[in-house]
Amino acid sequence: MSKFIASPASTLSGELKVPGDKSISHRSIMLGSLSHGITKVSGFLEGEDALSTLKAFQAMGVKIEREGDNVTIHGVGINGLKKPEGPLDLGNSGTSIRLMSGILAAQAFDCELIGDESLSKRPMGRVINPLKDMGAVIDSNDGKPPLKITGGQQLTGIHYDLPVASAQVKSCVLLAGLYAQGDTCVTEPAPTRDHTERMLKGLGYDVRVNDNQMCLTGGGELTATEIQVPSDISSAAFFMVAACIAPQADITLLGVNINPTRTGVIDVLKLMGARLTTSNQREIGGELLADIRIQSSELKGIHIPESLVPLAIDEFPAVFIAASCAKGETILTGAKELRVKESDRIQVMADGLSILGIENEVLDDGIKIQGGQFQKPTAMIESHHDHRISMSFAVASLRCDYPIEINGVDNVMTSFPNFVELSNSAGLNIVEV
Ligand code: S3P
Repeated sequence: MSKFIASPASTLSGELKVPGDKSISHRSIMLGSLSHGITKVSGFLEGEDALSTLKAFQAMGVKIEREGDNVTIHGVGINGLKKPEGPLDLGNSGTSIRLMSGILAAQAFDCELIGDESLSKRPMGRVINPLKDMGAVIDSNDGKPPLKITGGQQLTGIHYDLPVASAQVKSCVLLAGLYAQGDTCVTEPAPTRDHTERMLKGLGYDVRVNDNQMCLTGGGELTATEIQVPSDISSAAFFMVAACIAPQADITLLGVNINPTRTGVIDVLKLMGARLTTSNQREIGGELLADIRIQSSELKGIHIPESLVPLAIDEFPAVFIAASCAKGETILTGAKELRVKESDRIQVMADGLSILGIENEVLDDGIKIQGGQFQKPTAMIESHHDHRISMSFAVASLRCDYPIEINGVDNVMTSFPNFVELSNSAGLNIVEV
């Protein structure tokens, strides 16, 4: 198990390109595999999570070649997957297991989906329930992985009202809907990332979006295309916060995905007073990209609008570091989902902030953070093997006069394999030991 030692630093500069978007990388493998023809993907995230999806589809007979971040998928068509020889190990990846359940519930073969210790604790009832309503047969360990899916079921389309704003559940149901008889519709309580809908359309599938409802009709086909994966705003977020809090910072993040269902972190930081501007906006393959410039900022505490929560759901660990450096109190509510991510991100962040002397109060569905000065750490920070917790506390070193030690950072590899290298090239001082 490795740890980060993040030593004090104060300057951040340069033009940085963070790796490809994790959500889009997963979907490129899944939908490329189910397409007719060859899908060429560039900018693919070479992180462990996306590679778990890639290996799982290889194990189901799809020929997939990878050279760095270029991936070639020889699609097998919607009904071309083969029974894997053993259980599909999806590692740490919630997106893989939840989206793939939708696809696998409709196959002719049985299969088993397993994951690591963290994934094995995460709730799967949210996908099992709608899939069962569609006719799927799935066994679980009391609503948690492993998931044992019995194949050979004819699924029927449903109209599903999402009980939580979750793109993973929405995508799972829509992917099952590709195989279902009739129409499948999902209604979401608040907008969530829409990469599945965009990519399905890009591959020629008719997805009808009306306000907060997405519908498709089963039985169609997908046609291969080229997919360029933009940089991941969730990875860029660490540098946005880093630049805001660093005493001297002026950085530009290149080619970041600014899909409006993902830009909550930009809105939150701007409300806090961030000096952040976007430029060079362009559209590539149905996704919006821009360059984002961020300079040192005097942040102020805010009550984060609940409407922004699903649009920034993965960025809150980093936002909490920004809040710790802001003047006054920041309050987050309506974010209970953070408790069932790769770790309980409310509690784990609160524990780490307390170690750095930042006053905070844990709420059932959020947190209150009193901006202040990071103190000499009273202990090593435990990341609970959560990649985003590790990276967030590493960034805090830009405002701490003492080295910060963060334990269990191995999972940074799941989403941001070159985090240390890129951070240090911009001015941070992180060593992994
Ligand atoms: C994701 C959706 C979000 C997000 C996760 C990736 C996706 O999860 O937290 O990192 O790619 O669909 P939820 O759907 O559980 O909110």
